[in-house]
Amino acid sequence: MAADDLTLRPARREDLGELGRMAAELVRMHHTMDAARFFLPDQVEEGYRWWLGRELESKEVALWIALRAGVVVGYAYGRIEERDWNQLLDSYGALHDVWVAHSERGRGVATALVEAVVSALTAKGAPRVVLHTAATNASAQALFAKLGFRRTMIEMTREAPPPPAGAGGGPRTE
Ligand SMILES: CC(C)(COP(=O)(O)OP(=O)(O)OC[C@H]1O[C@@H](n2cnc3c(N)ncnc32)[C@H](O)[C@@H]1OP(=O)(O)O)[C@@H](O)C(=O)NCCC(=O)NCCS
Repeated sequence: MAADDLTLRPARREDLGELGRMAAELVRMHHTMDAARFFLPDQVEEGYRWWLGRELESKEVALWIALRAGVVVGYAYGRIEERDWNQLLDSYGALHDVWVAHSERGRGVATALVEAVVSALTAKGAPRVVLHTAATNASAQALFAKLGFRRTMIEMTREAPPPPAGAGGGPRTE
């Protein structure tokens, strides 16, 4: 155990309850940021317990938790992905989730978790690690920039407008 009582280890099945709770917080945070872009599934805790439980079985997955004095205080989740032709992105490790308990923020927990998952993905053969972060999530962007991630793509979204009442609207298309 480290001097400051923070430990990291790969997640196990017995952690799925905590993982579902933390993943649900991350999902709700995104939905609050931009409800039109980030959907909020029903039964989000249960859904993520199921999904992460399935992911735990995969050799392509790196799923780590951080504990302070034995209490789970954060997690990070990544997986190996195939070459993506549409994105011109060769095989890579995707860093999907990082979440740290509010009371533990600013103490280096995310730094330790990201480094653990990046190391695990690298050990699984990932030549690079790529992540997406919400445009308004300044703290996450500062974290990732500090850890050496550079900006490589910008996602933009436009919602379909509601059809104007009683009109086809716009130029005719075949
Ligand atoms: C973003 C988050 C993971 C950071 O966790 P953390 O354990 O507090 O991060 P660390 O203590 O390791 O911080 C490392 C660096 O990140 C940056 N950082 C972290 N929180 C920040 C904040 N609120 N404002 C500005 N920079 C911040 C800083 O550069 C910091 O280095 P410093 O302490 O030397 O200034 C945490 O705030 C969180 O869980 N947020 C909600 C979930 C989320 O946004 N996840 C990321 C997207 S998936």
